[in-house]
Amino acid sequence: MRMRALLIGLTAATFSLLAFAQQPIVIKFSHVVASDTPKGKAADFFKQKAEELTKGRVKVEVYPNSTLYKDKEEMEALQLGAVQMLAPSLAKFGPLGVKEFELFDLPFIFDNYEELHRVTTGPVGKALLKKLESKGILGLAYWDNGFKVMSANKPLRTPEDMKGLKMRIQSSNVLDAQMRAVGALPQKMAFSEVYQALQTGVVDGTENPPSNLYTQKMHEVQKYVTLSDHGYLGYAVIVNKKFWEGLPADIRQQLETAMEQATRYANQIAKVENDQALEAVKKSGKSEIITLTPEQKRAWKKAMVKVHEQMADRIGKELIEAVYKETGFDPKSL
Ligand code: LMR
Repeated sequence: MRMRALLIGLTAATFSLLAFAQQPIVIKFSHVVASDTPKGKAADFFKQKAEELTKGRVKVEVYPNSTLYKDKEEMEALQLGAVQMLAPSLAKFGPLGVKEFELFDLPFIFDNYEELHRVTTGPVGKALLKKLESKGILGLAYWDNGFKVMSANKPLRTPEDMKGLKMRIQSSNVLDAQMRAVGALPQKMAFSEVYQALQTGVVDGTENPPSNLYTQKMHEVQKYVTLSDHGYLGYAVIVNKKFWEGLPADIRQQLETAMEQATRYANQIAKVENDQALEAVKKSGKSEIITLTPEQKRAWKKAMVKVHEQMADRIGKELIEAVYKETGFDPKSL
């Protein structure tokens, strides 16, 4: 009798051990934008590839639209290990103590995606990701969103039109300086709060690529959208270092492959997604789209580029010059 009970007990223990061994490794991937955006789609693509390549040994749970954490909280959650993967905008690393990422926020520093990619795939991009390690974070990749538009309830054609406007920005001091350079009053605010802040008049306007503007319905509460292309917005995909390094080597390898594929996909779709979002904003008829003349564009550039020098101490003069060298940007040519 005792023997039988022992055997039953042993069998049950073996089964639960087996079940435990077969439990998938869960990666919680939290982000703040809609699923139907370049980042949202790339996160879902990564999930699909990761689960496929690991044959289900890894399960990726994607939490879009700030459903799990908002901007600031998600960084803390990653460091604590409450989530394993994020893709915050490059403008959001200052509060973490890695302010050099604000390099990407410098107005007009990149003319197009090609220039930007030269930097992200080159030594500057790699050195920046390396800086995250002391924070317990590993940087795996750069994902594109796109070039920003400026929106408000009045037409913004010249930099002077920005004077006195309360503008929502991400948590970047470079963006703060950029808004002040044109006389606006910047207000740092979590992405999840922007729509309501615009709707209720807490802020007058904001900046973002069209894909974010459209999917958050900001165009429904902003009468004018200026195609200023004054700055870039993109992401670093980051993981909790301890978690990543603790993964079985074969699994980590498969996840790295999934990440490479997702990165290629992200950077392929970003421009098209933004072009389509802009078309959708136009079609909605809710905001008027303003295209700048070359002279107007030059005036914006002239007014904002001084921020590069103002922020040289924060970001590092050498870093900024390394980017100029890569892209051919010459601040004196203005
Ligand atoms: C924002 O806060 O405006 C963006 O960083 C949101 C995002 O992640 O694209």
